[in-house]
Amino acid sequence: MTANTSLPPASFPVRRMDFSFAQTDKYWFAEDPFMSHFMNNLSSLFPYGEKFFVDSVRAVRDQVTDPQLKKDISAFIGQEAMHSKEHAAYNDYAAEHGIDLERLELRIKVLLEWMTRFSTQKQRLAATCALEHFTATMAEQLLQREDLTTQMNDAKLYQLWMWHAIEENEHKAVAYDVYQATGGGYFTRVLMMAITTLTFFGVIGWFQLHLLRKDGQLFNWRSWKKGLGMLLGLRNGFLSRLLLPYLDYYRPGFHPNDHDTRHLEQDWRQRLGFSD
Ligand SMILES: [Fe+2]
Ligand SMILES: [Fe+2]
Repeated sequence: MTANTSLPPASFPVRRMDFSFAQTDKYWFAEDPFMSHFMNNLSSLFPYGEKFFVDSVRAVRDQVTDPQLKKDISAFIGQEAMHSKEHAAYNDYAAEHGIDLERLELRIKVLLEWMTRFSTQKQRLAATCALEHFTATMAEQLLQREDLTTQMNDAKLYQLWMWHAIEENEHKAVAYDVYQATGGGYFTRVLMMAITTLTFFGVIGWFQLHLLRKDGQLFNWRSWKKGLGMLLGLRNGFLSRLLLPYLDYYRPGFHPNDHDTRHLEQDWRQRLGFSD
């Protein structure tokens, strides 16, 4: 009997997906340039961003002794690798419309390689925890906000984003538990969150301007107004509503599972027809 067979099953599955994104409308989100490019912008972060998460967790997995967490690390790596692959396939849609997402992805690759050179293993894992908090809380909003998701007018992209959103919530505690299990403390966790926040929003702002400019939409004020309203509106802005969960991360006893999303995940697994 090998060591693995005595381990418990992972808390969540790895689903094999294989999307194809040909013949998708250019402005597939709300028929709007700003919002479609905002989602394209997020997608461009994933192929190398999620590889960075996997590398950060994989680097310390030998230090983890808890059998359940070991299995969850493997499932986490499986899910994130599949997200990287499918967000790379997203480029087919982009290429069809002359949107050069591959170039943006390569900028992320260079940025993360640079960051890897000047950081410790612990800091990279803390940055992964910070970004996993962003992805989990953004994903939770997608799962909750039919007012937004019904504006995705492409069935394949809708499935991609909702599948990814479910899985980000299923595995939201793994990197954090690994961080704690390998001796990660509060100071590095919140310091890396502060640094990561500045970098994350700096990159998103830069990429958004780039995508709009390349598409000849930089001065489309109507689209800016609509998009900024959807992102930053006081009551229902997609980003505004991240503020409270974001601040919660700075609480000393914070844990990602303090915020229970299991019902939401279950509801969406049924909606997308997943058997597990
Ligand atoms: Fe992911
Ligand atoms: Fe993730």
